[in-house]
Amino acid sequence: MPNILLLGKDGQVGRALQAVLPAVGDVTALGRDALDLRDQACITATLNAHRPDIIVNAAAWTAVDQAEREPDEAAAVNALAVAALAQHAAANAALLVHYSTDYVFDGALARPYTEADAPNPINVYGATKLAGERAIAASGCEAFVLRCSWIHSLHGRNFFRTILNLARSRESLNVVADQHGTPTPASLIAQTTVLCIARHRQRTLSAGLYHVAAAGSTNWHHYAQYLVAGASARGINLKLAPARIAAVTSADYAAPAARPCNSRLDTTSLTVAAGFAPAAWTTYVDQSLDELVASGAAEDFFSKA
Ligand SMILES: NC(=O)c1ccc[n+]([C@@H]2O[C@H](COP(=O)([O-])OP(=O)(O)OC[C@H]3O[C@@H](n4cnc5c(N)ncnc54)[C@H](OP(=O)(O)O)[C@@H]3O)[C@@H](O)[C@H]2O)c1
Repeated sequence: MPNILLLGKDGQVGRALQAVLPAVGDVTALGRDALDLRDQACITATLNAHRPDIIVNAAAWTAVDQAEREPDEAAAVNALAVAALAQHAAANAALLVHYSTDYVFDGALARPYTEADAPNPINVYGATKLAGERAIAASGCEAFVLRCSWIHSLHGRNFFRTILNLARSRESLNVVADQHGTPTPASLIAQTTVLCIARHRQRTLSAGLYHVAAAGSTNWHHYAQYLVAGASARGINLKLAPARIAAVTSADYAAPAARPCNSRLDTTSLTVAAGFAPAAWTTYVDQSLDELVASGAAEDFFSKA
């Protein structure tokens, strides 16, 4: 079994990876406390100590609005650290698995984006993630770069948790309706990572850039209504009714960072290459709501959001 070094173990994708990566390797999982990716010397020392066959980097600066105010901090994690990981992978014949974002695109296209479409980020976060992608390409290392979108899980910071928390205390809410994309569970990204590593080892899948998302698409307003309706139907006590969620424009909402109005990802490439066959985004959201209710973890879910 290959030695896998998982970075960012405590994030949404990192937690999901901890559950499934042992199927394809011997995993050492590190969080920020063990390796701060802003510390280049620590990156080098950690990689030299572990000498992984596979580096899986689930760590990232993901605070999209905050990145506008702290671009250097975001770039240190999303670009400079990624460059160091890629250079180590290239020099040591290790495989790198890294995650990028739908926000590398400007949203101007009227169809889902393929891997062949030109990126053109419209916010700092997207620019730093694209710089990370380009550093990997420049290093010449063998790498899977999986571009993901609108990630949700029952842990961490995400729209799923934010909306359900607001729905407990608010009777009305404004949510933007002019940004289109696909909610995707962290678990699907983790399972797809295992698929990529396994198929790569069998030499039935080439490393490269792939889009990973659930099937279908929506906008944030409809997604919020779907979540609130689904949670209420499962007996979760909310003040907010779906009809009291108003659709607003991105201009009305005026977030610090601009977001693409279309960040749908075309996943055909991975489907053709590896049989990637995701379910509809609604299926995964339903599963997460069922899991939330069944686990009895509702108080934890709400109290730590
Ligand atoms: N979330 C989304 O909707 C989304 C959409 C598209 C693509 N992506 C990409 O998908 C990947 C996984 O995202 P995610 O949602 O799982 O992210 P996440 O939940 O925000 O987790 C990111 C992890 O990175 C860690 N981290 C941040 N700065 C660090 C540093 N300086 N040193 C070490 N660790 C650091 C964080 O630690 P702390 O908890 O201590 O901060 C956190 O555990 C990322 O590459 C992200 O860019 C995410």
